Amino acid sequence: AEIVNAVVRGVAPWGGHYYPALPYTSYENAELQDIADIVAHMRTLPGSDVASLPHDMSFPFNIRRSLGGWKMLYADRGWVLEDPASPEVERGRYLVEALFHCGQCHTPRTALGGMDRGSWLQGAENPNGDGRIPGIAAGQTGWSDADLAAYLKTGLTPDFDSAGGHMAIVIRNLSTLPDEDIQAIVSYLRAVPAPEGADAG
Ligand code: HEC
Repeated sequence: AEIVNAVVRGVAPWGGHYYPALPYTSYENAELQDIADIVAHMRTLPGSDVASLPHDMSFPFNIRRSLGGWKMLYADRGWVLEDPASPEVERGRYLVEALFHCGQCHTPRTALGGMDRGSWLQGAENPNGDGRIPGIAAGQTGWSDADLAAYLKTGLTPDFDSAGGHMAIVIRNLSTLPDEDIQAIVSYLRAVPAPEGADAG
């Protein structure tokens, strides 16, 4: 129960708030049973004998006292895409917005570090300072549905390049999903508005 509370609410067993580096502002939309199942899976994994390292967080996230206010602004905001047009888009929304927290990398952040929902999945600065993370809303990639599905499943782009950076790790997990779920993610991405002036693809 303590782990589930940490993951979906960002609240520690001692009652304090976790830094949003733990992406609870995405997991808060997950089904509690799914998080409980993930915890059950984690319990089966071998532990590490490396001691937990001290946190290394930059301003304003190093001020834990300010986190209660931050959460009032950026937590508990519900779904970004309201009224999904079909059960498939709704399933994709669950996978993208909650479980796989794609927005945490692909959505730009406000000055206070919250996800800017007005530019949802439209691409963002790479927090490690190394270029930009591409936009994936509607037709932003310029790829067909089949190309997009193949990329998410295998990491290969239509021009035979392969996914790099953090996306390679994401795809290692996405590749285990059934094809219907990959298709649901593709349908959801199509339903997310692209930036104004962008090719709707
Ligand atoms: C931990 C950060 C992170 C997360 C989480 C993440 N991505 Fe990515 N994504 C990236 C990065 C970085 C790239 C660029 C990869 C490259 O340069 O090869 C990328 C690239 C992509 C691309 C290719 C876009 C293009 O035009 O080249 C797609 C599509 C994509 N991501 C979809 C998703 C989806 C869908 C999810 C959630 C299921 C997701 N990503 C979650 C970091 C992330």
